[in-house]
Amino acid sequence: MSDQPPETEAASALWLEAFLADPDRRGWIITHNGAPAGFLMLSGLTNCNRRAEWGWYIGDPDARGRGVGRAAQALGLDKAFDDLGLEKVWAEVLADNEAALKAQGTAGFRREGYLRGHALKDGAFRDVVLLAILADEWRTRRAAVRKSLAGSHLIAA
Ligand SMILES: CC(C)(COP(=O)(O)OP(=O)(O)OC[C@H]1O[C@@H](n2cnc3c(N)ncnc32)[C@H](O)[C@@H]1OP(=O)(O)O)[C@@H](O)C(=O)NCCC(=O)NCCS
Repeated sequence: MSDQPPETEAASALWLEAFLADPDRRGWIITHNGAPAGFLMLSGLTNCNRRAEWGWYIGDPDARGRGVGRAAQALGLDKAFDDLGLEKVWAEVLADNEAALKAQGTAGFRREGYLRGHALKDGAFRDVVLLAILADEWRTRRAAVRKSLAGSHLIAA
C-alpha cells in the first residue's frame, strides 16, 4: 500500500484498535497453508455511494507470486458485492506494481485514471493508477475466474 506503515508495535496496536472500532472499514486475514499470510481491507463502507476502496497485501514475500493474492481477491470481491452489497470497488495502485496491476486486471478491475506524483513512498513521489470494478463486471467474470483458480487448486471447486 502507498501509506507508510506504523513504525512500532505500539503504533500497530493502536492502528488495529482504531480499525476494529471503525464501521467504515472491514478487513480479513489472508491465510496460506493455514498460517496468516496477508490482509485484505475495504474502506469507505459508510459512504452513501456504495463503493469502497480496496487494499491488500501478502506480507510474507515467500508467499507472493503463488496465486494466494488472486485467490483472496476472488473471495474478497464476493464479500464486497454479495455480503456487503457494494456497487463498486476501487483501488489506488503504484504504477510500477506489476503484480497488483496484473492480478487486479485478471479479476476484471479496469483502469480509470493515472495520477502523477501522487504518493510519497520511500522518499519519492510516485505515480498511481486508479483501478475499479463494478458489481456487474465481477458477476460476469466470476465463474471464469473461479474456474481458473479451482483448476490451479487455489480455491475449492
Ligand atoms: C499484489 C499482491 C497482493 C498480489 O498477490 P500475489 O499472491 O503475489 O499474486 P498472485 O500470485 O496471485 O499473482 C498475480 C499475478 O501477478 C503476477 N506476479 C506475481 N508477482 C509478480 C511480480 N513480482 N512481478 C510481476 N508480476 C507478478 C503473477 O504471475 C500473476 O499473474 P498471472 O495471473 O498472469 O499468473 C502481492 O504481490 C503483494 O502483497 N505485493 C506487495 C504489497 C502490494 O503491492 N499490495 C498491493 C498494493 S495496491
